[in-house]
Amino acid sequence: MKRRYHVVVIPGDGIGPEVVEAALHAIGPVLDRLELERVEAGLGYYERTGRPYPEGFLDRLRSADAVLKGPLATPVGPGGYRSINVLIRQELDLYANLRPCRGYPGVSPKVFDLVVVRENTEGLYAGVEGRFRDEAYALKIVTRRGSERIVRFAFEYAVSRGRRLVTAVHKANILKVADGLFLEVFREVARRYEGRVEAGELIVDAAAYNMARSPEKLDVIVTMNLYGDILSDLAAGVAGSLGLCGSGQYGESAAVFEPVHGAGFDIAGKGVANPVAAIHAARLMLEYLGHRYGDEQLAAAAQLLDKAVEEALTVDRALTPDLGGDRGTMDVAEAVRRRFEALLSEGLAA
Ligand code: NAI
Repeated sequence: MKRRYHVVVIPGDGIGPEVVEAALHAIGPVLDRLELERVEAGLGYYERTGRPYPEGFLDRLRSADAVLKGPLATPVGPGGYRSINVLIRQELDLYANLRPCRGYPGVSPKVFDLVVVRENTEGLYAGVEGRFRDEAYALKIVTRRGSERIVRFAFEYAVSRGRRLVTAVHKANILKVADGLFLEVFREVARRYEGRVEAGELIVDAAAYNMARSPEKLDVIVTMNLYGDILSDLAAGVAGSLGLCGSGQYGESAAVFEPVHGAGFDIAGKGVANPVAAIHAARLMLEYLGHRYGDEQLAAAAQLLDKAVEEALTVDRALTPDLGGDRGTMDVAEAVRRRFEALLSEGLAA
């Protein structure tokens, strides 16, 4: 166990700096356990300097115990620069993207608690694209190694968190070869967990329909890159806002945490962005540091932070406009921080 963990913080674009600062405020009671290093990158940085990120950027991320980042904007279409998010995932080999999403009672249209485990480096995001005059293509890359490690990650996550069901989401009825390989690997791995975790399968369109209608029936979903990207935003929509769900991206030796939402340029600078997604990202980071370094104190703090968010939303009704409330970003962060402090001191007293 380390006394302090080196965390690189990338504030990012648009609402990024606001929600990241709010998340750091919310986790104030444990901030003395983290040594923060702020690194600029993204569209704003590109406009100022002509480069999307500073020299030595990836090495600084690699040297950290964890990275907490805000959204980084990517210019649409050819030109500009390639997504920094995709670059980080591929260079740090962050193959697993965990996206837990909850619908809160009295806050969200539906109450549920599901996790999307998204393969993060292959599929249609492998960057194999081309164009010849009026014909363009993108190759979907699916490998046995890539599929096996993400499916194993999903089952291990389910076992360690006492989850009951892991469902593979695919389109193997149409993409018989590529998605077929993913499904074949899923079935092999699932057999090793028989009796411990139930295994299910859903075609991606049916999965979207089920998620919109009865998300409470889903538990852990494991899927390929593009489906995971879309389904996790759908989960956030069913929960009531993109501002509710955080994400963790994990490799063998690095981990990056961020809200699932983008730069939210339409609301940037107004102090109304929902910080809960960024707070959940920070929570996943504390949980990761806790487990990776055997730091029970941080792992326990992460659990209490989850409870603090729930109490701030459902009991204090600390809700930003996206959830029908009128509270500002920092009001919500402050409400979470107070709940967190109270839970931590109850924990100490117990
Ligand atoms: P977006 O997520 O930024 O915004 C979609 C809608 O959700 C907007 O109406 C926005 O106001 C709202 N929203 C997002 N976060 C919110 C929050 N915390 N509280 C309240 N409302 C919130 O998606 P968009 O507009 O497609 O992307 C904007 C930029 O962000 C793009 O350049 C994109 O590349 C980038 N992006 C970056 C991501 C990352 O760094 N991981 C992820 C997604 C998008």
